[in-house]
Amino acid sequence: MNHKSRIISPSRPTLHFIARFIFARMDRVVSGIRPTGRLHLGNYFGALKNFLQMQHEHQCFFFIADYHSLTTHPNPQNLKGNVRTVLAEYLACGLDPDQCTLYIQSDLPQTAELYLLLNMHAYVGELERSTTFKDKVRQQPDNVNAGLLTYPVLMAADILIHRAAKVPVGKDQEQHLEMTRTFGNRFNRIYKSDIFPEPVAFNFGKQLVKVPGLDGSGKMGKSEGEGNAIFLSDAPDVIRKKVMRAVTDSGPTVSNSPKPEAIQNLFTLMSIVSKPETVKYFEEAYNNCSIRYGDMKKQLAEDMVVFTTPISEKIKETEADTSLLQKAISIGKEKAHQSANETLKLVRTAIGFSV
Ligand code: ADP
Ligand code: TRP
Repeated sequence: MNHKSRIISPSRPTLHFIARFIFARMDRVVSGIRPTGRLHLGNYFGALKNFLQMQHEHQCFFFIADYHSLTTHPNPQNLKGNVRTVLAEYLACGLDPDQCTLYIQSDLPQTAELYLLLNMHAYVGELERSTTFKDKVRQQPDNVNAGLLTYPVLMAADILIHRAAKVPVGKDQEQHLEMTRTFGNRFNRIYKSDIFPEPVAFNFGKQLVKVPGLDGSGKMGKSEGEGNAIFLSDAPDVIRKKVMRAVTDSGPTVSNSPKPEAIQNLFTLMSIVSKPETVKYFEEAYNNCSIRYGDMKKQLAEDMVVFTTPISEKIKETEADTSLLQKAISIGKEKAHQSANETLKLVRTAIGFSV
């Protein structure tokens, strides 16, 4: 090293100190996806796309929410397989274990401890009012377990265990975030502390995203009906078949008429995967009543194939690489423990556990 460069280059401890200082000031980010099936375009555009960008700009914790998936009683083989799949899909999409903390929720039992503590100040009445709880009661009346009722408390524990300020999620999770703020604020007030910040749902676009499904109504989801979701790992022919079967109608007869929900959904999907000129072309065709839904669906399917093909190839490669998957998860577990232990120490002291 020459004399000049020795003067201007900071020493390793100084660099370390600067890095820690910057890291400590960065907003913390938490988000999770349940291992209940393969990831679809809704997961990608509602959540993962933001994860990919945020990992370079924030201190991020992304996890696979396997505790949460137990509300539907998966068998051990399925659970194990699904966790592995989601992990491979996270990595294949570009999540980098060196840039963010990537872990499995059940590898961080500190979350369960915080969940227990938050449960003491979560009221049955407010939990019963949650829209997702009411939906689940309707969907699975024979399995209304306490885990379903306290699902929002566990989600709050996931977020608060890292004292996160931002939570990249789709629009369907807004109410859960509101409940997280309620539980965090309540804890701060009761224990006269300021441990928990107020986390907000986050999306890089102007609004939270809701990606519609292909069955004419509602959101794209893993557990909606057959053919509703396009999975990142779907083969091109499967995508073409699903899109061609999407619900449409006989077409507009009056120019500039409002779009029925099923048609609006196709346009929304197109605005997500296609070029703006393509969307504009079909918008104009709709407005002057010359649209042919068959052509629109063909184009939509091709644009989806162009988007998913490189990802699905990478998923296959990643899924086969057991040592890569194990390495990613063990680095994540260690980093997650460090952050969670810091929070639990503050929480336990505030409650009065320590002598
Ligand atoms: P699913 O609803 O398919 O079971 P999850 O509940 O595990 O998927 O959702 C994981 C993440 O993906 C959450 O942040 C959720 O908001 C987001 N997400 C899921 N479906 C959609 C969708 N159709 N549009 C936008 N975001 C979505
Ligand atoms: N409840 C989320 C869903 O159903 C998954 C989830 C669990 C989550 N814990 C979280 C998302 C914490 C964000 C932060 O999609």
